[in-house]
Amino acid sequence: MDAVVSGRRQIATRTVEIALERRDGRELGAWEPGSHVDLHLPGGLVRQYSLCGDPADTGRWTVAVLDVAGGRGGSRAVHERLVPGTAVTLEGPRNTFPLVAADRYVFVAGGIGITPIVTMVESAARGPVPWHLLYLARDRDAMAYADRLAPHGDAVTLWSDAERGICNVAAALADRGPGSTGGRAAVYCCGPEPLLGAVERLAAGWPPGTLHVERFSAVAADTSGDSTLEVQLKRSGLTLEVPAGCSILEAVERAGVAVLSSCREGTCGTCETDVLDGVPEHRDSVLDEEAREAGDIMMICVSRSRSPRLVLDI
Ligand code: FES
Repeated sequence: MDAVVSGRRQIATRTVEIALERRDGRELGAWEPGSHVDLHLPGGLVRQYSLCGDPADTGRWTVAVLDVAGGRGGSRAVHERLVPGTAVTLEGPRNTFPLVAADRYVFVAGGIGITPIVTMVESAARGPVPWHLLYLARDRDAMAYADRLAPHGDAVTLWSDAERGICNVAAALADRGPGSTGGRAAVYCCGPEPLLGAVERLAAGWPPGTLHVERFSAVAADTSGDSTLEVQLKRSGLTLEVPAGCSILEAVERAGVAVLSSCREGTCGTCETDVLDGVPEHRDSVLDEEAREAGDIMMICVSRSRSPRLVLDI
């Protein structure tokens, strides 16, 4: 979709909110909390950002972007080049972080990780299910949308490291996490890697499927044991040899078969592919534990195979 930047405002330290509208004035469309959009930036970069505006406003989408020190250029391009009137291209929305039914919700956001969480919180607040948000940041000025969360009172814990020291997440969730009473919990976490890692370690003791995480960046995979695998593309009638060091996605593209992709590092969900036979070895940051176990879909940009052969619906 051809779009244009229709607004920009500073919402926290090094964080801008960008509003987007279609260039032809038509609606952008509906989306659900947790969704992200692919933003094609001036200069050719494509980045995924969570939609964090009002899902009921189908004419205007907003994203919020932290200027990441030492980043790969996407956030810098947003901060330097996206001003009202700038033309951009959008793809999506896509939701790899949907709000599932539960008896209560626990949200954990670290810094800019609030972007997918804030709309989930607002959605939960409109329903009957109890919820709580733990929102961690370096200091108050780094907390985007703290003002927007203020009406929710005690349901939101704002944790500023500068004021309270580094948060012990295990202790902070002790009486709110899945181990506490109160029915089947769903825990949503988005933020920097150390926070995700801490929550994932806690989740080892939770019922399967409790934790849902959204990562900004790829998880490092051990590729040292990779070997050539055979991939059969059922619909295309092709069988490919995929050597170590080459992704299934690259092999499929080299064979001349068109498939959708965007991030190419296992974080966006665009290359999700149905697995018809074989056992995928998941290396993405998108699928939850249940989907990994089921093994009937995979992200072919990074994932490989536990079985010598995979049959894909391509
Ligand atoms: S292209 Fe983004 S997950 Fe594969």
